[in-house]
Amino acid sequence: MPERIVDLRSDTVTKPTEEMLEAMRCAPVGDDVYGEDPTVKALEELAAARLGMEAALFVPSGTMGNTCALLAHTHNGEEMIAEELAHIYNWEAGNYASLAGLSLRPVRGENGVFTPAQLEAVLRPDNPHFARQTLLCLENTHNNAAGAVWAPAQMAEVSSLAREHGLAVHLDGARIFNAAVALGVDVRDFSRHVDSVMFCVSKGLSAPVGSLLCGSRDLVGRAYRARKRLGGAMRQAGVIAAAGIVAIEKMTARLAEDHANARRLCEGLSAIPGFVARQAPVPTNILMVDVGGLGWTSDELIARWKAVGVLCNRRPPSGARLVTHRHISAADVDYALEATREMVGKAD
Ligand SMILES: Cc1ncc(COP(=O)(O)O)c(C=O)c1O
Repeated sequence: MPERIVDLRSDTVTKPTEEMLEAMRCAPVGDDVYGEDPTVKALEELAAARLGMEAALFVPSGTMGNTCALLAHTHNGEEMIAEELAHIYNWEAGNYASLAGLSLRPVRGENGVFTPAQLEAVLRPDNPHFARQTLLCLENTHNNAAGAVWAPAQMAEVSSLAREHGLAVHLDGARIFNAAVALGVDVRDFSRHVDSVMFCVSKGLSAPVGSLLCGSRDLVGRAYRARKRLGGAMRQAGVIAAAGIVAIEKMTARLAEDHANARRLCEGLSAIPGFVARQAPVPTNILMVDVGGLGWTSDELIARWKAVGVLCNRRPPSGARLVTHRHISAADVDYALEATREMVGKAD
C-alpha cells in the first residue's frame, strides 16, 4: 500500500465542504419542474448576476449544459466551429452531431487559443454547398490545452469576427473562475464577449453536482426546453443547488492555491530527467507531462505512479494530465515529486 494517495486525476473528485453539507441539509426545496424550488431559483439568479447575464439554468452536468446551449443556439444541419482539442468536440460523446445534428469545423489553436485570422480561415461563405455556420464555441480555461486561459481581449477579437459573420458565441467555461483568478479579472470580463456561458460548480469549486448555463432570457428559455428533452429537469434539486450557492459565494478565491500547487508540481517534475512537464503560458490548475524520453507509454507511467499512490489521467501515447484541487496540499505535491524521483531512479 502506498504511503499516501495523491489524486491528480481531476478537480471533479473534490468532495462537498462542511458548509455545503449543512446548506444542503437546510435548503428549502420544492418541485423545480413546477418552478417551486426556491434554492434552485436562488442559485440560477446568483449565477446570472455573477456572469452579468439575464438568466441562468441549473443542469446536472457540464456536458448537458453545453448540449442545451447547442440545441438553443442552432438548428439541425448547421455547422459549429470549435478548437481542435475542445471538450465539446472530443469528450462529449459526439453530442454536437448525434443530439444537435451539427457538423463541426475545428480550428487548430496554439495552447488552445486561436486568432481572428485562424478563425477567418475556417469561416465558409454563404453558399448552398456548405452547411450554414451559426455557432462558435470557445473554451476557457481550455482543459486539453493544459488549462490554458483566453484573455478577455483575445475572446473579444474572435467573438466580434464571428458575430460579423452572423455566428453566435458560446463559452464552455467549465473552469471560468480559474481563468478569472489566474488573470485577476472578473468573470464578467469574459462573459461580456459571448452570448452564453456554461460553468461548472462541480469541479474546482467542490460542489457535488451541477453546472449553470447563462445567457439572455430568450436563450435560457430555449435551453429550458432542451434540458427537458435531455431528461435533465429535476425535482427537489435545491438539495444540490444549495451546495452550488456556497461554491459560487465561497470557493472561487481559493483556486489560487490550486494554481500555486500546479506550478510547484510542474517545476518539480520538469527537473526530473526524462520528464517533460508543461503548463499553458498563463498557468492554472492543469498540467501535462510526457515521458516519451524515458521510453514509457502513458499506461506504463500511470501504472508506475499508481503503485506509489499518484493518480492521473492518460494522454497517449506517452503523456498524462494532472489536475490540482482542494484536496491536494503542498505536502502532497512534495510527496508526489519525491515518489517520482525514486520511481525514475529505480527504473531500469
Ligand atoms: C472544459 C470542459 N467542459 C465541459 C466538461 C463537462 O462537464 P461534465 O463532466 O460535468 O459533464 C468538462 C469536464 O471535464 C470540461 O473539462
